[in-house]
Amino acid sequence: MINVIPKPRVAVEEEGFYELSSGVVSFSYDERLGNMRQCIACSLGVKSVETGEPDIRFIYTEKVKVEEYLLKVTEEGIRVYASDYSGAFYALITLKQLIDDENKIPCCKISDRPLYSWRGMQLDESRHFFGAETVRKLLDFMAMYKLNRFHWHLTDDQGWRIEIKKHPLLTEIGSKRKGSQLHHWGSLDMSHVPVEGYYTQDEIKQIIAYAKARGIEIIPEIDFPAHCASALAAYNNLACREIDCEVPDFFGEKIPESRGMKNWNRTLCLGKDEVISFAYDVIDEVAELFPFAYFHVGGDEAPTGEWKKCDKCQSRMKTEGLKNETELQGWFTNKLNAYLKTQGKIMIGWNEVLAAKKIDADVVAQYWTPLKDKNVNKHLKNGGEVILSNHKYFYFDMLHSYCTVKGTYYYEPKKAGIKSKYDNSVLGVEGENWTEWTDTAEELFFKMCNRGLALAECGWSRSRDYADFIERLQENKPLLDKMGIYYGEDWLTLSKSKKKKKKAAKKLGLDSKAYDGEYEISIAK
Ligand code: ACM
Ligand code: ZN
Repeated sequence: MINVIPKPRVAVEEEGFYELSSGVVSFSYDERLGNMRQCIACSLGVKSVETGEPDIRFIYTEKVKVEEYLLKVTEEGIRVYASDYSGAFYALITLKQLIDDENKIPCCKISDRPLYSWRGMQLDESRHFFGAETVRKLLDFMAMYKLNRFHWHLTDDQGWRIEIKKHPLLTEIGSKRKGSQLHHWGSLDMSHVPVEGYYTQDEIKQIIAYAKARGIEIIPEIDFPAHCASALAAYNNLACREIDCEVPDFFGEKIPESRGMKNWNRTLCLGKDEVISFAYDVIDEVAELFPFAYFHVGGDEAPTGEWKKCDKCQSRMKTEGLKNETELQGWFTNKLNAYLKTQGKIMIGWNEVLAAKKIDADVVAQYWTPLKDKNVNKHLKNGGEVILSNHKYFYFDMLHSYCTVKGTYYYEPKKAGIKSKYDNSVLGVEGENWTEWTDTAEELFFKMCNRGLALAECGWSRSRDYADFIERLQENKPLLDKMGIYYGEDWLTLSKSKKKKKKAAKKLGLDSKAYDGEYEISIAK
């Protein structure tokens, strides 16, 4: 049986099998496909030689598109036809999923290519810092399921996680906080365990290379102009009010409200020229580090309260002829976009940036908001492009009973109100792993894994069948085990036992009501 996730476009199983010798694979290749030795090592996980009768022949052909492949397995050997490294890599990933314990691969012909060019996964490392080992594991998961964009959320209120050489306090001060709010929004229960950590630029380069070898491009996100409390703890001159603040140990805005805190800052002052220079400095270093063309500047959930009270912001609005604070943010967004273009970059912003009237059409909007946003269709009408991460379908930090595996699996842009005439302007889909309430790698993978598999198929496969997907998903348990991806105690066995659920929930530190929800969804037909 061709048991592959995501489901290939056309797969025909034939009589017989080819047996790969264990340990070392021989191959021949066309140099136009790139480094096939690395390709074999990163996909099949074995060494390779270029001598003798090849097990695998890599054949370059312009007849297939970027990321597309043809795979032919016969009793004589394996042929891979591709036009680029990614296509060849995906052919081998398909093989990896087909090989049985005796190194046998069923004879087959597979012709496969993705539905979307953007099949993304995000990780928020500000709220909790997981480190390079977990990131590499997430990249391994992505590669195994042909996800090709890693969106790395590296800065937010609760921690700045990327070295910026020109502004060292961003990490010296901004990467450390004294504790964390626990459980849920509004909870007053705090842990006093410090959270800290960041990536040096050298460490980031290594992770970029690791991803690249697996067909994955990395998009850094530096969230401007709000979600900047960690930067403002380091450099308070960047805020409207230059007050001393710590990196917050709470998430969201409910806590400062309920504590009666007036003195915390999360927005940059958009009236100060030094703030614009600061943003450009950060962009300079980050743009140089990350080779991929796309650069995410956030732009979500920007409160306007500080700007309303700030003389400098108000004066900026006057000189630039801006009617209100939303337009002030729009002015800043377009300024960043213009600057990014000078660095050869394409800007991505969360869909809130579209609220300003004249946002450049070449800004890519990432649509996440739970409520429908009419500005998204307007942006598409103006020639803009979108990435779809709608809250109800792609927020993997949410309960499974709200963001269900089935919902993710059957997602279509029209569910988010995208008119079908704009289908060609949808770059693709992306799953989000926000980590306010996720502080271990185990819990991260548990929340991400089954919906991540659904995302992979939603982003790749044109025809979808949930019951068939669930069957293939169970066959993947040994692979997930081998990768060390924690998917939760026996959720793939679809046990209905309440007792087991409770036990597993306790082990995970989840409350059982939440866990029940997650389990129920796993057992949906
Ligand atoms: C977001 O969830 N604030 C993008
Ligand atoms: Zn200001």
